Amino acid sequence: MIDRIISLFFILITTISVYASDPSPILKTGFNNEFLIGVAINRNQADGTDSKGQALILKNFNAITSEQDLKWGLIHPKPTIYSFSKADDYVNFGVQNNLFVVGHTLVWHSNAPAWIFVDDNGKGLTRDALLKRMEEHINTVVGRYKGKIAGWDVVNEAFEDNGTMRKSKWFQIIGEDYIEKAFEYAHNADPKVELYYNDYNLYLNAKRNAVIKLIQRLQAKKIPIHAVGEQAHYSLVIPTVQKIEECIKDFSKLGIKVNFTELDITALPNKKKEITAEVSKIVAYDPLYDPYKKGLPDSMLLKIAVRYGDIFRVFKENSSTIQRVTFWGLTDGNSWLNGWPMPGRTNYPLLFDRNYQPKLAILNAILKPIK
Ligand code: G3I
Repeated sequence: MIDRIISLFFILITTISVYASDPSPILKTGFNNEFLIGVAINRNQADGTDSKGQALILKNFNAITSEQDLKWGLIHPKPTIYSFSKADDYVNFGVQNNLFVVGHTLVWHSNAPAWIFVDDNGKGLTRDALLKRMEEHINTVVGRYKGKIAGWDVVNEAFEDNGTMRKSKWFQIIGEDYIEKAFEYAHNADPKVELYYNDYNLYLNAKRNAVIKLIQRLQAKKIPIHAVGEQAHYSLVIPTVQKIEECIKDFSKLGIKVNFTELDITALPNKKKEITAEVSKIVAYDPLYDPYKKGLPDSMLLKIAVRYGDIFRVFKENSSTIQRVTFWGLTDGNSWLNGWPMPGRTNYPLLFDRNYQPKLAILNAILKPIK
């Protein structure tokens, strides 16, 4: 490890001098022969209000995911109201610029308005009625972007870390086959679109095994699934690179691709040891856990660069199984990790800083990982 830190220090120095005239290596060209390199974008980036951000996206990435605007609560806020304008901006931006456009997400426990699960009188829906509602939503949304969205996160976060099914309303009312139904409906709505199951912490054995069984069930019933998405909200130490690789190899045995769909690395201390991406787990602000408010020390930047370099070494070595690696946000200022799990912190998990400047130590580490 010490060797790597020393090497990275040299990389930092050489990077600064090499790129002094052209301060930004182009990310996507570095992975042309390996996998797509994507970024989650917000509505200001999609519609061009954030023109600097948009230019940076076009220069560096060849795949995009909408961070918010395709989620059920935003695109279908009331039973008979669909709100497509922001989602249209996103899809048009991708199509016009020949980007690989990802749809995130059709069925999720979060961002699912309460009305989905009750009838006009507030009475809980039956299984059949909820399936019908799910099918109508999927038909409408997938149908609208048929031929434009290249792949959908059909179901998001259906399992707990211990491998049991999350007791979401979808599960409670429909039962465990709600996942299969969602995939069937999405396939019927656009038979050519790729379909993904997306979740976090798939490096945990119990959770990964549950997802493997799900994929086998889908495959046995000939319901198409093209890839599994490991979200990859990681810390400096969790998970180990060995676990990341184990995950890739286990899914590749099923004959499907692995996508790393929401990559970011937090370097902030956390009150709890576990890492998760469960959006509902919020804790009150405490300055003790917000140490870099005034800026990130170089020593910490290097640690993050080393960690990114280690992870990308595994990605490159297993690139035949990986279709896409997507960062969850463009600049540090855009990251959800400033507001979660402790709202109000200043985090530094991404490739570009708050002034849209590339972090050359990280870019260099991921483009040329040290063996
Ligand atoms: O837009 C409103 C703004 O008007 C309001 O003033 C502000 C005050 O709270 O909220 C803003 O909306 C926030 C929105 O992000 C846009 O920034 C919501 O409160 C906040 O809940 C929402 O969080 C998003 C979260 O999903 C829930 O949808 C994060 O940005 C987004 O990064 C996160 O993404 C999820 C993936 O979809 C699934 N995997 C985990 C990942 C991280 O939680």
